[in-house]
Amino acid sequence: MESVLIAEQERSGVNVIVGVSGASGSVYGIRLLERLRGVPGAVIHLVMSRSGEKTLFLETGKRIADLGKLATFTYRVEDIGCRLASGSFRSDAMVVAPCSVHTMSAIACGITSNLLVRAADVTLKERRKLILMVRETPLHLGHLRTMTQLAEMGAIIAPPIPGFYTNPQTVMDIVDQSVDRVMDLLGLPVEGARRWDGPADDDKTSGAE
Ligand SMILES: Cc1cc2nc3c(=O)[nH]c(=O)nc-3n(C[C@H](O)[C@H](O)[C@H](O)COP(=O)(O)O)c2cc1C
Repeated sequence: MESVLIAEQERSGVNVIVGVSGASGSVYGIRLLERLRGVPGAVIHLVMSRSGEKTLFLETGKRIADLGKLATFTYRVEDIGCRLASGSFRSDAMVVAPCSVHTMSAIACGITSNLLVRAADVTLKERRKLILMVRETPLHLGHLRTMTQLAEMGAIIAPPIPGFYTNPQTVMDIVDQSVDRVMDLLGLPVEGARRWDGPADDDKTSGAE
């Protein structure tokens, strides 16, 4: 019965592929999965690189199975024969959160030797939305050129660089600031997302004086 419901959800809902690679910031992947789970009708397809699993464990003590609980489907990164590897599978968008320089560069060059990169390549070739939360600093010219190349190819480069206009109080407020902007890029609702609405009334008044 559950599989029938999921199949129907897949047909009528929004199918989002989430790739988690080995850059620092696996919390961005976790938070994105949590946000997507809150969207009615969202079908979440998770694929993690091996380095992603390692970084996830080093940074959070969590394993791929823990993230799998937040996804509808989890795929092995070696499973290059699965449906995410084909353009005939009708996904709506893909987000890589976080995206390592290695994965970013592989996507830019079409080196599709694992499922995460292949799914991203398919997303681009099918002219679907690909959002890359690239995490590295500082950036050398090669990184910047690769980002330019990807932007020219239609990808959205969305590094997790937080804004502070929401007056964040916790690390998770800072994480949410970036993840909620990605949800906006996906066109999906986030309840309680904090947005800039101009200065507070007091500030507006004092500014006018
Ligand atoms: C704790 C830790 C933090 C890392 N942080 C970054 C990072 O912020 N950005 C990055 O590009 N690579 C980072 N790396 C290196 C990547 O994990 C490494 O380049 C790996 O080969 C990426 O493989 P993948 O793209 O298949 O996930 C980090 C590695 C570890 C263990």
